[in-house]
Amino acid sequence: MDLSTKYMGLTLKNPLVVSSSPITMDLENLRACEAHGAGAVVLRSLYEEQISSELEGRLDQDDMYFWYPEAASHIKNISKGQTLRPYLSYIEKAKNEVSIPVIASINCYSPGGWISFAEEVQKAGADGIELNVSTHLLNEDAMEHGFLENTINSIISGVKKQVKIPVSVKIGSYFSNIIGAAKEMEQAGAVALVVFNRYYRPDIDIEQLEVTSESYLSAPEELSNSLRWVGVLSRHVKCDLAANTGIHGYEGVVKQLLAGAAVTQFCSVLYIQGLGYISTMLEDLKWWMKQKRFASLDDFRGMITDDKLNSEKFEQIHFIRKNARVFEKD
Ligand SMILES: Cc1cc2nc3c(=O)[nH]c(=O)nc-3n(C[C@H](O)[C@H](O)[C@H](O)COP(=O)(O)O)c2cc1C
Repeated sequence: MDLSTKYMGLTLKNPLVVSSSPITMDLENLRACEAHGAGAVVLRSLYEEQISSELEGRLDQDDMYFWYPEAASHIKNISKGQTLRPYLSYIEKAKNEVSIPVIASINCYSPGGWISFAEEVQKAGADGIELNVSTHLLNEDAMEHGFLENTINSIISGVKKQVKIPVSVKIGSYFSNIIGAAKEMEQAGAVALVVFNRYYRPDIDIEQLEVTSESYLSAPEELSNSLRWVGVLSRHVKCDLAANTGIHGYEGVVKQLLAGAAVTQFCSVLYIQGLGYISTMLEDLKWWMKQKRFASLDDFRGMITDDKLNSEKFEQIHFIRKNARVFEKD
C-alpha cells in the first residue's frame, strides 16, 4: 500500500503532518513524531515581531492582535532575549534528528524588513517555510478593500525572492473571495495553502460579564469549514492544499483527502491523545484503504470533488429550505 504524497514539492511518506505548535519545538517530540509515523512536521512559529525586534530593535512599537491575545505579552517577554539564533539552531538540530521534512513557520503580517530572515531559515536547513498570515483578520479598522490580499501577496513574493525552498501560506477563512485570494497567492509563489488556521474564539461569561475564551484546542465538529473549502479550492487552484483544523482521527484525514487535500495537519488531537495517536491514525487510514481496496492515495484523492453531484454540495446552503419543509409538514 502506497501512502506517499507530494506536498510543497517534497515527497512525504504519508499525509499526516504535525502542525505548528510547541509540540514540534522539542527534539524528543520530533523523534516521537517520526517514530509514530508522521509524514512531516511544522515547527512552532517565529513571529514577525520577534524577527523585527532582533533585526531592528522595534518590538515595543508593534501593537496588534496575535492569533490569541496572550501571545502579545508572551512574544514581548520572550523576545527580550535572543530568539532567532536558537530558532535557527533548533532547525539544524531537528534536521539532524529526524529524516522527515521539517517545515519552519513564520507568523507575519507585513512585507517588512523581517523578510530577509527567510534566507537564514533556508541556510539552517528547513525543507520549507510556512507563512502564517492569518493575523491580518483583526488588524485594522480602516483597511481598504484588497489591502489584505495585496499585503499577503507582497509577503509571499518578498519571501520567494529570498529563498529557493518551497513556501506555503497558512490562511484564515475570513476572505470575501477565498477563491480569488487563493489564486493570487498561488501566482505570487505559494506552492501550498494551509486551510485554515484556527482563530482564538471569544465568548462572553454572562455571570462575570467578561470575555472568556473557548478551549484553545479544536473539536472534531470543526472539520466542516475547512472540508468545504478544501473541496471548493481543489477545483480552482493547482497548488497543494493542506487541510487543517478539526482533524481528530483517520476519518478527518480520509474526508480531507477525498475532498482533494495533499496532506492533513493537526495538533489538538495530539495534545488530547498523545503523540502515539499518530500511529493509530496511520493504521486506521491503512485499514480504511484496505477495506475500500485503494492501493494508493491517488486512487481516491479528490474523488468526491471530481464528482459533479457531490462537489456541488460543497457550495450549497440547504438549511433554510429544509427547515421550511419541516414546518410545512406541521
Ligand atoms: C497550543 C497551540 C499552539 C499553536 N501555535 C501555533 C504557532 O506557533 N503557529 C501556527 O501557525 N499555528 C499554531 N497553532 C495552530 C495549529 O497549528 C493549528 O493550525 C490549529 O490548532 C488547528 O489545528 P487542530 O484542529 O489540529 O488543532 C497552535 C495551536 C495550539 C493548540
